[in-house]
Amino acid sequence: MPAGAVQAGRHWSDSQGVAYRTGRSILALTIALGLLVATGLGNLWLHPYFLRLPRLHWKLGLVALALVLAVVHDFVLGPRAGKPGAAPSVRVRASWIARINVLVVLVIVLLGLGLLR
Ligand code: HEM
Repeated sequence: MPAGAVQAGRHWSDSQGVAYRTGRSILALTIALGLLVATGLGNLWLHPYFLRLPRLHWKLGLVALALVLAVVHDFVLGPRAGKPGAAPSVRVRASWIARINVLVVLVIVLLGLGLLR
């Protein structure tokens, strides 16, 4: 078999794998976010006084910030960094946005644990 056909075959299965993994990740994220929204609304229904707690306001603000950072990382800087000839600084910025988001999400988890203490 000519080398080109082997390479073309590899390329095809690689891109199928990426599409499959991306689809599964998006499905997992959608289920996770759906569960978080559902359990959050359930908690508010069981404990309406949460709405008056500054800790919940901080948490909701940080959730909004995490979503904005994730969109910038996943749909703006991430794809831009992957383009051929992209400036290395774009990759560095994509990386830092993601690291900062990890910290934001950790604070959200800690605030969430505190709410139910
Ligand atoms: C749930 C989705 C994602 C999460 C949780 C995530 C998380 C991260 C984290 C934590 C880093 C920093 C790694 C480090 O510097 O040690 C990173 C880097 C990066 N991510 Fe993502 N990411 C996601 C999706 C994406 C997508 C969709 C793209 C592109 C389309 C992307 C492109 C990049 C790039 C280019 C870097 C920089 C890598 C480097 O420094 O070599 N990410 N990501």
